[in-house]
Amino acid sequence: MCGIVGCVGAENAAALLIEGLKKLEYRGYDSSGIAVFTKDGIRVEKKQGRIAALEEKLAADGYPKGTLGIGHTRWATHGVPSDVNAHPHSCGRVTLVHNGIIENDYELREELEREGAVFLSETDTEVAAHLLDRFYTPGHPVEAIAAAMKRLRGTFALAILFSDDPEHLYGVRKDSPLIVGIGEGEYFLASDVPAILNRIGRYYLPEDREIAVLSRKGVSFLLPDGTPAPEKEPLTADWSVDAAEKGGYPHFMLKEIMEQPETLRAAIGPRCAHGVGGILKKELPDVSGVERILIVACGSAMHAGMVGKHAIESLARIPTEVCIASEFRYQNPILKKGDVVIVVSQSGETADSLAALRLAKEKGTPVWAIVNVVGSSIAREADRVIYLYVGPEIAVATTKAYTAQVALLDLLAIRLAYERKTVTEERAERLFGAMNRLPETVRLVLGQTERIRNLAKFNREAEHSFFIGRGQDYAVCCEGSLKLKEISYQHSEAYAAGELKHGTISLITPGTPVVAVATTAALLEKTVSNAKEAGSRGARLLLLTRKSLKPRDTFYRDLLLLPDEEELLMPVIAIVPLQYYAYCTAVERGCDVDKPRNLAKSVTVE
Ligand code: G6P
Repeated sequence: MCGIVGCVGAENAAALLIEGLKKLEYRGYDSSGIAVFTKDGIRVEKKQGRIAALEEKLAADGYPKGTLGIGHTRWATHGVPSDVNAHPHSCGRVTLVHNGIIENDYELREELEREGAVFLSETDTEVAAHLLDRFYTPGHPVEAIAAAMKRLRGTFALAILFSDDPEHLYGVRKDSPLIVGIGEGEYFLASDVPAILNRIGRYYLPEDREIAVLSRKGVSFLLPDGTPAPEKEPLTADWSVDAAEKGGYPHFMLKEIMEQPETLRAAIGPRCAHGVGGILKKELPDVSGVERILIVACGSAMHAGMVGKHAIESLARIPTEVCIASEFRYQNPILKKGDVVIVVSQSGETADSLAALRLAKEKGTPVWAIVNVVGSSIAREADRVIYLYVGPEIAVATTKAYTAQVALLDLLAIRLAYERKTVTEERAERLFGAMNRLPETVRLVLGQTERIRNLAKFNREAEHSFFIGRGQDYAVCCEGSLKLKEISYQHSEAYAAGELKHGTISLITPGTPVVAVATTAALLEKTVSNAKEAGSRGARLLLLTRKSLKPRDTFYRDLLLLPDEEELLMPVIAIVPLQYYAYCTAVERGCDVDKPRNLAKSVTVE
């Protein structure tokens, strides 16, 4: 995830681009850069680090003078944060910035290299610049963009300059955000409205693959075949400037919950680009010889590991343990040949997880890491890294990183099962198809927000609440309960449903909220019985289940029905409404949602 901006007609393009990039810094700040048409041609300036570092450089070198340009703030996916990997990237007459992930960059890079291309950076973006240059003949930019788009797989929003065409700026998108803003004699491209809010009154939302052509005279939209795109109505930019970095949402956590269809796609898409046999092949070329897996992590990442254990054991039949990183380190763990340690971490900097990684390596055990932050300590020290690609997560309570961690562990389970033939090919293909649908399935779940908001209102005064479930639903409960208590300060416990009666049921009094998660067909009746036991003691029961599992008797007080999907994937689908429930409860209770008391996003102490 990165932020892009472009402008034409502005008095001082460089200053405007920097201003816009600052509002987009929430989308990443590993490096930033701009490219401006000056009287001597395109001048590119880029710098690793925050936008302030680029500003310092510009102050020293002098701002490029011109009225047309593009800018970028990067959140590294392909290639470490560095000056060279910073955007814009150029090749021949083409200079561009990119947000998204080119899934087939590896093949395209090989193909272009065979034809003599020399790449300067490790980025997938530079591949797009080379491809565009290859297809470009002067005077025909739209044809070049259309031809390049045909070859690019994945997601992208691109802002493009051609060095022999100083009057135009081009923009195009596929599954990554891009808006076209209309100002007074100036026109803009940007990843979101707030980036350019103070310069525009109205804006357009281009459709996927439409090519936006911006000049000082106005904006037009073309289809890839060069014909005009269907007319579109401009929208009014009536956002508050305050909401800028939050993309219009009141809190980062809500923004991050809502962007999960997009982030899941970013995590899953590149891993599924080569069919079921190719899942995670790039990151893990060889997974043979794995006899036991130890997933080591903290907090929500550990809960993701609990779901992963279930997926790996049930599909691939590989014994898997989940270890709390801070315990693992001091328990003198028994590690032997055939073991693999998987460290899961959003930040890649959690001290306990890092220490566990080092211990495993010391003992000669291979370590794979599932990490969000590129170039973080855990990513650097692990033998193999699988990145989440979900962009920066700002709210302390993790949401989008958690669902991506679970999705990647599910993908790993499918890959292992496929190779070890512990599932039939048809079943592997079915699961693979469901993984590809997952972002859209999650989008459906996000449509039920109003009911959840009402529920949170009703339960807001409760002192305690409980989450019960069995099997992988229990792992969902652990995460749902953690989300609720960490941000709303309502005490909450997750229980394996069958265990409730062995003690904690004594805490249930009339009105205590109990959330029963029951998405596993084989365990439905058992969980329902446990929920009823709580209901008989006065609990206010919310049942979270799949459409096809809806029980006939209405023993519950509230019901949330989830779409029917492969059971393996239900933990990702079921946690989304629980994240939103926690969020709404915290808002109702007047809590500081994004920065709960006493917590930190990245815990770098033991
Ligand atoms: C902190 C955060 C949690 C997070 C945990 C692990 O406790 O508050 O939300 O799950 O650290 O962080 P990591 O960056 O390793 O995933």
